[in-house]
Parts: sequence; structure tokens; C-alpha cells
Amino acid sequence: PVRLGVVGLGTVGQGVLRLLGHNAEEITRRVGTSVVVTDVAVRDPARARDCDLSGIRVWDDAVRLVREADVDVVVELIGGKTVAREVILAAIARGKPVVTANKALLAEDGNAIFEAARMAGVVVAFEAAVAGGIPIIKAIREGLAGNVIASVAGIINGTCNYILTQMAEKGESFEDALATAQRLGYAEADPHFDVGGIDAAHKLAILAAIAFGMPLAYGEVAVEGITHVTPEDIKIAQVFGYRIKLLAIAKRHGAAVELRVHPTLIPDDTVLAKVDGVLNAVVVHGNAVGQVGFYGRGAGGDATASAVVADVIDVARALVTDSRHVVPALAFQPDALRPLPVLPIRAVESAFYLRLRVADEPGVLSQLTAILAAHDISIEAILQREPRGGDDATVALITSVIPEHRFDDALAEMQRLPFVRAGSARFRVEKFD
Ligand code: NDP
Ligand code: HSE
Repeated sequence: PVRLGVVGLGTVGQGVLRLLGHNAEEITRRVGTSVVVTDVAVRDPARARDCDLSGIRVWDDAVRLVREADVDVVVELIGGKTVAREVILAAIARGKPVVTANKALLAEDGNAIFEAARMAGVVVAFEAAVAGGIPIIKAIREGLAGNVIASVAGIINGTCNYILTQMAEKGESFEDALATAQRLGYAEADPHFDVGGIDAAHKLAILAAIAFGMPLAYGEVAVEGITHVTPEDIKIAQVFGYRIKLLAIAKRHGAAVELRVHPTLIPDDTVLAKVDGVLNAVVVHGNAVGQVGFYGRGAGGDATASAVVADVIDVARALVTDSRHVVPALAFQPDALRPLPVLPIRAVESAFYLRLRVADEPGVLSQLTAILAAHDISIEAILQREPRGGDDATVALITSVIPEHRFDDALAEMQRLPFVRAGSARFRVEKFD
């Protein structure tokens, strides 16, 4: 097994332990060997945790864990710039790969940390540092590597987006919305980092570095937070057809770049305006691909754990796999691929839209609905259009979610009715909710 030492078991750390447990089998199939947490460090070992710590050694000194524990990878989830920094440098000094979600530390001290890691020949992975569960680091660094990137912009602080959404949609006060974001585990230990725009600026500095190939330049980001955005501004902006969002923007201008974070009015029919709550979205403009958008949960234990565990898997694969096949072609190790039966389409479930041409005579609707009822199909919406230029009327309806064979059987029965004309239409309905 690949052995992990996880320092910090707060919102994200507990999420990571839960995810490694729930998805253990799938992770083993991806890596080629199991990934186990053998050691954790916290400030208060007596505190109850929402994850299984059985068989795991608990340390109260994170730096000691890194210096002494027999682990293969160090996962730093403490946050801040003091102990976390010591932990990461100690891991690098011992030649241990590091996975971290610590954008504050990387944005402010990353140039030195990455140089130390390069000198020691170890990896510092940080997918979770930007936009929570959205794999934006890998996407820019690898998936878009063929492009010259012109800009990266988006909503990259879940707490601010949550607060602005609650204020706009529920009329909630700034203070109440912030308190809920803290309770849900979205906010930084010092929430001023969120509402002051500092967290978004940290993330923007990281994005700009990997998008433009420049050293981390957090100190040069122009930053304005959301504390002075009032409910009145939000309402007036809505009247004008705008939403107020905290945007982070990095743009190339010839040989220079602009880096800025600030509340911004954006037209309410744009994609970014519809990104609400804790969701983040990042739009990247590459000179070959054009615009590409990424969207998903930007904070919270489980979403962030998704990114941390992805890094853990990357690092673990590099430790146990021969260097020519670090990432298996089909994502899972070849000997872990398993044939899966594909469901016949008649067994697949969805809602259906049905349009029928019918004779305009009494009893038509009742017979159609009786057939649907007999097949245990509920009608979510229905309309009938009066005949126009002929004797036929149109009946259209949307069903509840049902197995396809049940809908087809009912449809076949309906089509045998004498008043149903040729020329019906049937489409599947997916709501993605
Ligand atoms: P929490 O405050 O919830 O957890 C911090 C953890 O670190 C706690 O378990 C705490 O121990 C432990 N800790 C603090 N000081 C020490 C110390 N000196 N030695 C050992 N352990 C210590 O933070 P989060 O989980 O929210 O955040 C962790 C990191 O992830 C931060 O860098 C944050 O910016 C980043 N992040 C957070 C996201 C989120 O949605 N929360 C999203 C993306 C990144 P104890 O519990 O005993 O007090
Ligand atoms: N406090 C951060 C946010 C956590 O609200 O976006 C995710 O990085």
C-alpha cells in the first residue's frame, strides 16, 4: 500500500479520510495498489471526528509526524502559513511528495516552496487549492497545454458567491449568510480572507502562474472584497439587468498581465451570472480552443476532498508504477478493468415528451390518460391545441420518470386507438437535477 500521513482533520481532512474509505476499492483499481492513511496529526486529539480513525496513529505534533512517521506521502490540510509551511518543507527535506490545499501558503510562499521541491526532486501537488472540486489546475496545466492562454476569469470564492446569492435571492443579511457559509465549512479560518477578496486573490495568483508561465505574483493582484456591497446595490443592479459577483480576472496584455479581484456587475443572461451559491466557475480563453468553461462546487469538505484525493492518486501512481505508464490509458490499471453490462435502452429510465395528432371528438383525453394510468405513468404536464385548418387536434404531454419499456408499451396501445392519427413524436426529457 501507499501510506499517507494526513496533517489537519478539519472540514477538508475529514472529507479526505471519508472519501478514501468510501472509494477505496475504486482507488485501488486506479492506482494498482491500495492507498491507506496510517498517520494523522491534529491540534486536539481528544476532539471527535466525523471519519473512521481506527488503526490510525494520531499525532498532536504535525511536524514531528512528518519527520518521524513511516509514510510515503504527506497531505497538508492545516492551512495558514506557519505550521503548514514547516510541515511542507520538512516533507520536502525527507523527500516525501506533498499534497496540499493551501492556496494562501502557495500564493505567498510558493516560489520558494516549489524551488525547494524541485531541488529535492519531489512533487508538491495542489489541485484543491483553486476552485474546490473543479479540476482547473490539471485542466490548464495539462489539458490546455497546447494553447497560449489569453485570459482566465471566474468566480473562485465559494463563500462570497454564497453570500451574494443569499443576499440577492433570499434578502438575507451579509452577516447571516456569512455565518451559514462558516457553518457549512466553506469559509477560511479567518473569514476576512474570503469577504476581503484575499482568498480569491491567492487563487488568482496560482491560476495566472500556471496559465501564463510567470512566478506567483500574489502581492501584485489588485484586490477589493465584498464587504461594501449592500442589498440596495444588489437590487438596483438587478433592475438594470445585472448580477453582482466577486470576479477574479487574469488577462494578458502584450508583455504584461492584469490581475484583479473585485465585485463586478455582469449581465444577468451570461453564464457566470447564473453561477450561484457555493458553486465556482472558471472561463479560460486559449488561442486554439477559444473559450472553455469549468463549473462545480468550489468549497466544502467532500468537493475539496475530491481534488485532494485526485492528487493523492496521481502521486501514488508515480510511486508505484513504471514511469512509462504512470497514468493508465483507460484510467484504471489494465488488470483492474472489469466488463460491465450495458443496460438495454428499454430498461433505462427517463421522463418522456409525447405529441399525438388525434381526431377532435369526445372522450379522447380520457382514453389516453386511462392508458397512461393503466401503465402506472403519471402525467407531469399536458396541453391540447384546438384543431387548425382540419379536424385533428394536437395533444402533448410530459410524463414522470419511468422505464422506457413502460412508456413504449403505453404508446403502442395509444397508437392502436382509432382516433389517434399517424405522425406522433416522442422525445426523452432529462432535467439533470
Ligand atoms: P479547518 O480549520 O476546518 O481544519 C484545520 C485542521 O488543522 C484542524 O483539524 C486542526 O486541528 C488542524 N490543525 C491546526 N493547527 C494544527 C497544528 N498546529 N498541528 C496539527 N494540526 C493542526 O480547515 P479546512 O479543512 O477548512 O481547510 C484546510 C485547508 O484547506 C486550508 O488551507 C484551506 O484554505 C484549504 N481549503 C479549504 C476548503 C474548504 O472548503 N474548507 C476548500 C479548499 C481549500 P483541530 O481540529 O484539532 O483543531
Ligand atoms: N474559503 C474558500 C471559499 C474555500 O469559500 O472558496 C475554498 O477554497
